Amino acid sequence: MSEIKKIGILTSGGDCAGLNAVISSVVKAATRRGWEVYGIHDGTDGLTERPLSYEKLTIKNFSDTPWPRISGSYLGSLNKGVKMDSQAEMSHRFGEGVKELGLDAVVVVGGDGSMNIVSNYCKNAGVKMVGIPKTIDNDTPLTQYSVGFNTACQVCADALDSMETTARSHHRVLILEVMGRDAGHLAVQSALAGYADICLVPEIPYKLDSIVHKLEDIKKSGRRHAIIVVSEGVKTETGEQISGSQNLIGEKINGGIGEYLSQTLSEKYQGFQMRVTRLGHVQRSGNPTAFDRILASVFAAKAIDSLANGQTGIMVGFSNGKFESYPLEQVVACGTTLLSKDSPYIRAAHDLGVYIGEL
Ligand code: F6P
Repeated sequence: MSEIKKIGILTSGGDCAGLNAVISSVVKAATRRGWEVYGIHDGTDGLTERPLSYEKLTIKNFSDTPWPRISGSYLGSLNKGVKMDSQAEMSHRFGEGVKELGLDAVVVVGGDGSMNIVSNYCKNAGVKMVGIPKTIDNDTPLTQYSVGFNTACQVCADALDSMETTARSHHRVLILEVMGRDAGHLAVQSALAGYADICLVPEIPYKLDSIVHKLEDIKKSGRRHAIIVVSEGVKTETGEQISGSQNLIGEKINGGIGEYLSQTLSEKYQGFQMRVTRLGHVQRSGNPTAFDRILASVFAAKAIDSLANGQTGIMVGFSNGKFESYPLEQVVACGTTLLSKDSPYIRAAHDLGVYIGEL
Protein backbone atom coordinates (compact mmCIF):
# COMPACT_ATOMS: atom_id res chain seq x y z
CA MET A 1 0.00 0.00 0.00
CA SER A 2 1.11 3.56 -0.64
CA GLU A 3 2.07 6.37 1.67
CA ILE A 4 0.23 8.98 -0.41
CA LYS A 5 -1.23 11.89 1.53
CA LYS A 6 -0.92 14.81 -0.83
CA ILE A 7 -1.05 14.88 -4.64
CA GLY A 8 -0.79 17.48 -7.36
CA ILE A 9 -2.78 17.57 -10.58
CA LEU A 10 -1.97 19.50 -13.74
CA THR A 11 -3.32 19.76 -17.27
CA SER A 12 -0.72 20.06 -20.01
CA GLY A 13 -0.78 20.70 -23.77
CA GLY A 14 -3.70 21.91 -25.86
CA ASP A 15 -6.93 22.01 -23.87
CA CYS A 16 -10.08 20.10 -24.79
CA ALA A 17 -13.50 19.32 -23.43
CA GLY A 18 -13.49 17.02 -20.41
CA LEU A 19 -10.45 18.37 -18.56
CA ASN A 20 -12.58 19.80 -15.77
CA ALA A 21 -14.47 16.52 -15.57
CA VAL A 22 -11.11 14.78 -14.99
CA ILE A 23 -9.93 17.33 -12.42
CA SER A 24 -13.18 17.17 -10.48
CA SER A 25 -13.19 13.35 -10.45
CA VAL A 26 -9.57 13.22 -9.30
CA VAL A 27 -10.43 15.60 -6.46
CA LYS A 28 -13.47 13.52 -5.45
CA ALA A 29 -11.67 10.17 -5.55
CA ALA A 30 -8.57 11.47 -3.73
CA THR A 31 -10.55 13.37 -1.09
CA ARG A 32 -12.54 10.23 -0.28
CA ARG A 33 -9.25 8.58 0.62
CA GLY A 34 -8.37 11.48 2.89
CA TRP A 35 -5.67 12.89 0.57
CA GLU A 36 -5.06 16.57 -0.07
CA VAL A 37 -5.13 17.72 -3.71
CA TYR A 38 -3.20 20.69 -5.09
CA GLY A 39 -4.08 22.05 -8.50
CA ILE A 40 -0.98 23.23 -10.39
CA HIS A 41 -1.58 26.24 -12.60
CA ASP A 42 -0.75 26.44 -16.32
CA GLY A 43 0.65 22.99 -17.01
CA THR A 44 4.10 22.40 -15.57
CA ASP A 45 4.73 26.16 -15.31
CA GLY A 46 3.10 26.24 -11.87
CA LEU A 47 5.95 24.04 -10.62
CA THR A 48 8.86 25.21 -12.77
CA GLU A 49 8.34 28.98 -12.47
CA ARG A 50 9.02 30.92 -9.28
CA PRO A 51 7.01 31.73 -7.25
CA LEU A 52 5.14 28.43 -7.54
CA SER A 53 1.58 28.82 -8.77
CA TYR A 54 -1.06 26.45 -7.38
CA GLU A 55 -4.18 26.23 -5.27
CA LYS A 56 -5.61 23.73 -2.86
CA LEU A 57 -8.61 21.97 -4.43
CA THR A 58 -11.59 20.64 -2.54
CA ILE A 59 -14.83 19.04 -3.65
CA LYS A 60 -16.45 22.44 -3.09
CA ASN A 61 -14.54 23.83 -6.07
CA PHE A 62 -16.54 21.49 -8.28
CA SER A 63 -19.65 20.23 -6.53
CA ASP A 64 -21.72 23.40 -6.54
CA THR A 65 -20.31 24.87 -9.77
CA PRO A 66 -20.79 23.97 -13.44
CA TRP A 67 -17.03 23.34 -13.91
CA PRO A 68 -17.20 19.56 -14.62
CA ARG A 69 -19.78 20.23 -17.33
CA ILE A 70 -17.84 22.81 -19.31
CA SER A 71 -14.69 22.78 -21.41
CA GLY A 72 -11.41 24.58 -20.89
CA SER A 73 -9.16 23.87 -17.93
CA TYR A 74 -9.95 25.22 -14.48
CA LEU A 75 -6.19 25.07 -13.84
CA GLY A 76 -5.00 26.55 -17.13
CA SER A 77 -2.80 24.72 -19.62
CA LEU A 78 0.14 25.36 -21.91
CA ASN A 79 0.82 24.12 -25.43
CA LYS A 80 4.29 25.45 -26.06
CA GLY A 81 6.70 22.52 -26.28
CA VAL A 82 10.08 22.42 -24.53
CA LYS A 83 13.46 22.60 -26.20
CA MET A 84 15.56 19.48 -25.56
CA ASP A 85 18.48 21.48 -24.18
CA SER A 86 16.37 22.99 -21.42
CA GLN A 87 14.88 19.68 -20.23
CA ALA A 88 17.48 18.96 -17.52
CA GLU A 89 17.06 22.41 -15.97
CA MET A 90 13.25 22.13 -16.19
CA SER A 91 13.30 18.66 -14.54
CA HIS A 92 15.31 20.12 -11.68
CA ARG A 93 12.96 23.04 -11.18
CA PHE A 94 9.94 20.72 -11.43
CA GLY A 95 11.41 18.37 -8.79
CA GLU A 96 12.22 21.28 -6.46
CA GLY A 97 8.67 22.59 -6.91
CA VAL A 98 7.18 19.20 -6.03
CA LYS A 99 9.43 19.06 -2.93
CA GLU A 100 8.53 22.58 -1.83
CA LEU A 101 4.82 21.74 -2.05
CA GLY A 102 5.37 18.40 -0.31
CA LEU A 103 3.57 16.41 -3.01
CA ASP A 104 3.78 12.60 -2.86
CA ALA A 105 2.73 12.18 -6.50
CA VAL A 106 1.49 14.10 -9.51
CA VAL A 107 -1.44 13.30 -11.81
CA VAL A 108 -0.69 14.60 -15.31
CA VAL A 109 -3.56 15.08 -17.73
CA GLY A 110 -1.95 15.34 -21.15
CA GLY A 111 -1.43 14.03 -24.67
CA ASP A 112 1.54 12.23 -26.22
CA GLY A 113 3.86 15.24 -26.00
CA SER A 114 3.06 15.92 -22.36
CA MET A 115 3.39 12.25 -21.39
CA ASN A 116 6.85 12.33 -22.92
CA ILE A 117 8.05 15.64 -21.47
CA VAL A 118 6.50 15.44 -18.01
CA SER A 119 7.31 11.76 -17.46
CA ASN A 120 10.90 12.71 -18.24
CA TYR A 121 10.82 15.48 -15.61
CA CYS A 122 9.32 13.05 -13.11
CA LYS A 123 11.87 10.33 -13.87
CA ASN A 124 14.79 12.74 -13.61
CA ALA A 125 13.47 14.29 -10.40
CA GLY A 126 12.27 11.05 -8.77
CA VAL A 127 8.62 12.16 -8.70
CA LYS A 128 5.78 9.61 -8.77
CA MET A 129 3.46 10.18 -11.72
CA VAL A 130 0.23 8.79 -13.13
CA GLY A 131 -0.90 10.02 -16.56
CA ILE A 132 -4.43 10.48 -17.85
CA PRO A 133 -4.68 10.81 -21.66
CA LYS A 134 -6.52 13.74 -23.22
CA THR A 135 -6.39 15.29 -26.67
CA ILE A 136 -8.69 16.10 -29.55
CA ASP A 137 -6.05 14.51 -31.81
CA ASN A 138 -6.60 11.04 -30.25
CA ASP A 139 -2.98 10.22 -30.97
CA THR A 140 -1.87 9.24 -27.45
CA PRO A 141 -0.29 5.79 -27.74
CA LEU A 142 -1.80 2.55 -26.42
CA THR A 143 -5.19 3.98 -25.48
CA GLN A 144 -7.95 3.77 -28.06
CA TYR A 145 -9.57 6.94 -26.77
CA SER A 146 -8.32 10.07 -25.04
CA VAL A 147 -10.59 12.47 -23.15
CA GLY A 148 -11.80 15.28 -25.43
CA PHE A 149 -11.68 13.44 -28.73
CA ASN A 150 -15.32 12.37 -28.76
CA THR A 151 -16.52 15.90 -28.02
CA ALA A 152 -14.29 17.30 -30.79
CA CYS A 153 -15.82 14.77 -33.22
CA GLN A 154 -19.26 15.94 -32.14
CA VAL A 155 -18.29 19.58 -32.72
CA CYS A 156 -17.05 18.69 -36.23
CA ALA A 157 -20.16 16.62 -36.99
CA ASP A 158 -22.38 19.52 -35.87
CA ALA A 159 -20.38 21.86 -38.13
CA LEU A 160 -20.79 19.46 -41.05
CA ASP A 161 -24.55 19.28 -40.46
CA SER A 162 -24.68 23.08 -40.62
CA MET A 163 -22.45 23.23 -43.68
CA GLU A 164 -24.51 20.66 -45.56
CA THR A 165 -27.63 22.81 -45.53
CA THR A 166 -25.92 25.83 -47.05
CA ALA A 167 -23.89 23.68 -49.47
CA ARG A 168 -27.21 22.24 -50.65
CA SER A 169 -28.85 25.68 -51.04
CA HIS A 170 -25.97 27.16 -52.99
CA HIS A 171 -24.89 24.05 -54.92
CA ARG A 172 -21.36 24.34 -53.61
CA VAL A 173 -18.50 22.19 -52.44
CA LEU A 174 -17.75 23.11 -48.85
CA ILE A 175 -14.40 22.17 -47.37
CA LEU A 176 -14.02 21.73 -43.62
CA GLU A 177 -10.44 21.90 -42.30
CA VAL A 178 -10.16 20.15 -38.96
CA MET A 179 -7.32 19.93 -36.43
CA GLY A 180 -5.48 16.76 -35.46
CA ARG A 181 -1.82 17.71 -35.95
CA ASP A 182 -0.12 14.85 -37.87
CA ALA A 183 -2.88 12.34 -37.22
CA GLY A 184 -6.08 11.88 -39.20
CA HIS A 185 -8.25 10.34 -36.44
CA LEU A 186 -10.37 13.45 -35.97
CA ALA A 187 -10.76 13.96 -39.72
CA VAL A 188 -11.82 10.43 -40.62
CA GLN A 189 -14.18 9.93 -37.70
CA SER A 190 -15.74 13.37 -38.24
CA ALA A 191 -16.10 12.62 -41.95
CA LEU A 192 -17.99 9.43 -41.12
CA ALA A 193 -20.18 11.19 -38.56
CA GLY A 194 -20.87 14.10 -40.91
CA TYR A 195 -21.35 12.04 -44.10
CA ALA A 196 -18.58 13.73 -46.05
CA ASP A 197 -17.90 12.74 -49.67
CA ILE A 198 -14.15 13.20 -49.53
CA CYS A 199 -11.77 13.01 -46.58
CA LEU A 200 -8.05 13.69 -46.68
CA VAL A 201 -5.78 12.57 -43.84
CA PRO A 202 -2.03 13.09 -43.40
CA GLU A 203 -1.32 9.36 -43.40
CA ILE A 204 -2.64 8.67 -46.94
CA PRO A 205 -1.34 10.36 -50.12
CA TYR A 206 -3.99 11.75 -52.43
CA LYS A 207 -4.28 12.96 -56.02
CA LEU A 208 -6.04 16.19 -56.96
CA ASP A 209 -7.22 14.47 -60.16
CA SER A 210 -8.86 11.71 -58.12
CA ILE A 211 -10.72 14.34 -56.07
CA VAL A 212 -11.86 15.97 -59.31
CA HIS A 213 -13.10 12.57 -60.59
CA LYS A 214 -15.06 12.09 -57.40
CA LEU A 215 -16.65 15.53 -57.76
CA GLU A 216 -17.47 14.83 -61.41
CA ASP A 217 -19.15 11.58 -60.38
CA ILE A 218 -21.21 13.42 -57.77
CA LYS A 219 -22.27 15.97 -60.38
CA LYS A 220 -23.14 13.21 -62.89
CA SER A 221 -25.29 11.50 -60.26
CA GLY A 222 -27.43 14.65 -60.13
CA ARG A 223 -26.27 15.88 -56.74
CA ARG A 224 -25.32 19.53 -56.78
CA HIS A 225 -23.30 19.86 -53.61
CA ALA A 226 -20.56 18.01 -51.76
CA ILE A 227 -18.62 18.06 -48.51
CA ILE A 228 -14.87 17.63 -48.09
CA VAL A 229 -13.12 17.13 -44.74
CA VAL A 230 -9.39 17.76 -44.67
CA SER A 231 -7.06 17.31 -41.74
CA GLU A 232 -4.75 20.26 -41.01
CA GLY A 233 -1.68 18.00 -41.26
CA VAL A 234 -2.34 17.08 -44.91
CA LYS A 235 0.42 18.32 -47.20
CA THR A 236 0.13 19.67 -50.73
CA GLU A 237 -0.04 17.10 -53.51
CA THR A 238 3.72 17.48 -53.91
CA GLY A 239 4.41 17.06 -50.20
CA GLU A 240 4.89 20.59 -48.87
CA GLN A 241 3.60 21.48 -45.43
CA ILE A 242 1.21 24.42 -45.39
CA SER A 243 1.76 26.49 -42.32
CA GLY A 244 0.30 29.68 -40.98
CA SER A 245 2.57 30.50 -38.06
CA GLN A 246 5.02 29.15 -35.48
CA ASN A 247 4.68 28.08 -31.86
CA LEU A 248 6.75 29.48 -28.99
CA ILE A 249 9.71 27.21 -29.72
CA GLY A 250 9.69 27.92 -33.44
CA GLU A 251 7.88 24.82 -34.71
CA LYS A 252 5.51 25.33 -37.65
CA ILE A 253 1.81 25.29 -36.79
CA ASN A 254 -0.43 23.57 -39.34
CA GLY A 255 -3.20 25.49 -41.04
CA GLY A 256 -4.28 26.52 -44.52
CA ILE A 257 -4.56 23.24 -46.44
CA GLY A 258 -8.29 23.91 -46.94
CA GLU A 259 -7.52 27.11 -48.86
CA TYR A 260 -4.87 25.31 -50.91
CA LEU A 261 -7.38 22.62 -51.89
CA SER A 262 -10.04 25.15 -52.75
CA GLN A 263 -7.66 27.09 -55.01
CA THR A 264 -6.03 24.16 -56.76
CA LEU A 265 -9.26 22.23 -57.23
CA SER A 266 -11.06 25.32 -58.55
CA GLU A 267 -8.31 25.73 -61.17
CA LYS A 268 -8.75 22.11 -62.30
CA TYR A 269 -12.53 21.88 -62.15
CA GLN A 270 -15.19 24.53 -62.45
CA GLY A 271 -18.18 22.27 -61.83
CA PHE A 272 -18.75 23.64 -58.34
CA GLN A 273 -18.05 26.83 -56.46
CA MET A 274 -15.92 26.13 -53.41
CA ARG A 275 -15.72 27.66 -49.96
CA VAL A 276 -13.59 26.81 -46.94
CA THR A 277 -14.33 26.69 -43.22
CA ARG A 278 -11.40 26.34 -40.86
CA LEU A 279 -12.98 25.24 -37.61
CA GLY A 280 -9.93 26.04 -35.48
CA HIS A 281 -10.12 26.19 -31.71
CA VAL A 282 -13.89 25.72 -31.64
CA GLN A 283 -12.93 22.02 -31.77
CA ARG A 284 -11.40 22.31 -28.33
CA SER A 285 -14.63 23.56 -26.79
CA GLY A 286 -18.21 22.34 -26.38
CA ASN A 287 -19.65 20.74 -23.28
CA PRO A 288 -18.07 17.29 -22.92
CA THR A 289 -20.20 14.50 -24.39
CA ALA A 290 -21.48 11.73 -22.12
CA PHE A 291 -18.72 9.48 -23.52
CA ASP A 292 -15.99 11.95 -22.54
CA ARG A 293 -17.49 12.53 -19.07
CA ILE A 294 -17.61 8.77 -18.44
CA LEU A 295 -14.05 8.34 -19.75
CA ALA A 296 -12.93 11.21 -17.49
CA SER A 297 -14.65 9.67 -14.46
CA VAL A 298 -13.26 6.16 -14.93
CA PHE A 299 -9.74 7.34 -15.84
CA ALA A 300 -9.63 9.59 -12.77
CA ALA A 301 -10.92 6.91 -10.39
CA LYS A 302 -8.45 4.41 -11.86
CA ALA A 303 -5.55 6.85 -11.57
CA ILE A 304 -6.26 7.44 -7.87
CA ASP A 305 -6.82 3.73 -7.22
CA SER A 306 -3.50 2.97 -8.90
CA LEU A 307 -1.68 5.50 -6.72
CA ALA A 308 -3.34 4.05 -3.62
CA ASN A 309 -2.08 0.61 -4.63
CA GLY A 310 1.45 1.87 -5.10
CA GLN A 311 1.36 1.80 -8.91
CA THR A 312 3.13 4.78 -10.44
CA GLY A 313 5.03 5.54 -13.63
CA ILE A 314 1.92 4.56 -15.59
CA MET A 315 -0.73 6.04 -17.85
CA VAL A 316 -4.31 4.82 -17.60
CA GLY A 317 -6.13 4.10 -20.85
CA PHE A 318 -8.93 2.28 -22.61
CA SER A 319 -8.34 -0.45 -25.16
CA ASN A 320 -10.32 -3.35 -26.55
CA GLY A 321 -13.20 -2.67 -24.19
CA LYS A 322 -11.01 -2.63 -21.08
CA PHE A 323 -9.66 0.07 -18.82
CA GLU A 324 -5.97 -0.65 -18.43
CA SER A 325 -2.75 1.00 -17.40
CA TYR A 326 0.53 1.05 -19.28
CA PRO A 327 4.09 1.84 -18.17
CA LEU A 328 4.95 5.40 -19.15
CA GLU A 329 8.20 4.21 -20.70
CA GLN A 330 6.19 2.03 -23.07
CA VAL A 331 3.81 4.92 -23.86
CA VAL A 332 6.72 7.24 -24.64
CA ALA A 333 8.54 4.61 -26.73
CA CYS A 334 5.46 4.30 -28.97
CA GLY A 335 5.63 7.99 -29.99
CA THR A 336 2.48 9.28 -31.62
CA THR A 337 -0.32 6.98 -32.76
CA LEU A 338 -1.19 7.75 -36.37
CA LEU A 339 -3.98 6.13 -38.38
CA SER A 340 -2.92 2.68 -39.44
CA LYS A 341 -3.54 1.50 -43.00
CA ASP A 342 -5.92 -1.17 -41.67
CA SER A 343 -7.92 1.29 -39.57
CA PRO A 344 -11.59 0.21 -39.54
CA TYR A 345 -12.55 3.87 -39.99
CA ILE A 346 -10.52 4.21 -43.19
CA ARG A 347 -11.88 0.90 -44.41
CA ALA A 348 -15.48 1.89 -43.66
CA ALA A 349 -15.06 5.29 -45.34
CA HIS A 350 -13.62 3.61 -48.42
CA ASP A 351 -16.35 0.93 -48.48
CA LEU A 352 -19.03 3.62 -48.19
CA GLY A 353 -17.72 5.42 -51.24
CA VAL A 354 -15.83 8.25 -49.52
CA TYR A 355 -12.69 9.25 -51.42
CA ILE A 356 -9.97 8.94 -48.80
CA GLY A 357 -6.83 9.22 -50.87
CA GLU A 358 -4.63 7.38 -53.39
CA LEU A 359 -6.08 5.71 -56.60
O1 F6P B 1 -2.95 19.03 -30.03
C1 F6P B 1 -4.16 19.71 -30.01
C2 F6P B 1 -4.20 20.78 -31.06
O2 F6P B 1 -5.46 21.40 -31.01
C3 F6P B 1 -3.88 20.31 -32.48
O3 F6P B 1 -4.94 19.63 -33.08
C4 F6P B 1 -3.49 21.59 -33.13
O4 F6P B 1 -2.63 21.39 -34.22
C5 F6P B 1 -2.76 22.33 -32.04
O5 F6P B 1 -3.21 21.78 -30.81
C6 F6P B 1 -2.98 23.80 -32.04
O6 F6P B 1 -2.18 24.34 -31.07
P1 F6P B 1 -2.32 25.83 -30.56
O7 F6P B 1 -3.56 25.91 -29.70
O8 F6P B 1 -1.08 26.03 -29.78
O9 F6P B 1 -2.45 26.69 -31.75
